Amino acid sequence: MHHFKNPSFELIRHDVVEPLLLEVDQIYHLACPASPVHYKHNPVKTIKTNVVGTLNMLGLAKRVGARFLLTSTSEVYGDPLQHPQVETYWGNVNPIGVRSCYDEGKRTAETLAMDYHRGAGVEVRIARIFNTYGPRMCIDDGRVVSNFVAQALRKEPMTVYGDGKQTRSFQFVSDLVEGLMRLMEGEHVGPFNLGNPGEFTMLELAQVVQETIDPNARIEFRPNTEDDPHKRKPDITKAKDLLGWEPKIPLRQGLPMMVSDFRQRIFGDHKEEDTATNTSSS
Ligand SMILES: NC(=O)c1ccc[n+]([C@@H]2O[C@H](COP(=O)([O-])OP(=O)(O)OC[C@H]3O[C@@H](n4cnc5c(N)ncnc54)[C@H](O)[C@@H]3O)[C@@H](O)[C@H]2O)c1
Repeated sequence: MHHFKNPSFELIRHDVVEPLLLEVDQIYHLACPASPVHYKHNPVKTIKTNVVGTLNMLGLAKRVGARFLLTSTSEVYGDPLQHPQVETYWGNVNPIGVRSCYDEGKRTAETLAMDYHRGAGVEVRIARIFNTYGPRMCIDDGRVVSNFVAQALRKEPMTVYGDGKQTRSFQFVSDLVEGLMRLMEGEHVGPFNLGNPGEFTMLELAQVVQETIDPNARIEFRPNTEDDPHKRKPDITKAKDLLGWEPKIPLRQGLPMMVSDFRQRIFGDHKEEDTATNTSSS
């Protein structure tokens, strides 16, 4: 929204599953439902977006000689048997589970990117993004950080799925943006893990939310969702060495910035009416 007044900015509403012809130098390919609630809602559309959508964007990159950056995900590691996860780890993914449309979709998108790179000489860049949070996130799309923050602000119990001992690493959005730009402008294809290695269990995350918003915020346990990975933590040595990048904002510093934005949107002029729904730890 804040770019609309910029005369050099143009917004085109387009479904990447349909081909698109444009003159561009660089393609940041982020289009994909990313919250488990969204990507499980229409799994066939999710995999189409990852496969056909990525093919279309790679085709465009090839046609106009653009550099192409794929936002892949830590989900390509599945429920990892190696910890922390290094880019050379091939992952432990269920190919027929309810998360496969996303996990296997992104794995195929990586394959397509590498095949266009090797076979057609397209300049590609691959980022494997770990859980990212920050201001302006969708309030009720079912991701764990936004869920806990919205629930604590609304005085609802924070819903923890499973025993809450599963871990995730939470990256502030500005750190990710910096990492993506360095990757795009640099000379290395990747894949690169882009994430914050600070690792928290869901219960520890709930505790940080309590410290930030309300020490009396309650926790409510629910049965875990299918194939929820037990742990997740990036090894970012490669990004440090080759991109000169590492995240700067720890969770306890980033969370208050997100909370003040959520507080304004929940209690400001435009009140959110729906309530937080189903989620997983993604
Ligand atoms: N945020 C994270 O923690 C995280 C982690 C790993 C990977 N990623 C990846 O980063 C990218 C952006 O994630 P986000 O968190 O900003 O998600 P988001 O849901 O906020 O944004 C995704 C956008 O993609 C659009 N989209 C979905 N299907 C599309 C289609 N067929 N055609 C055109 N647009 C389409 C949606 O409308 C939405 O605007 C995604 O590809 C996601 O898989 C994000």
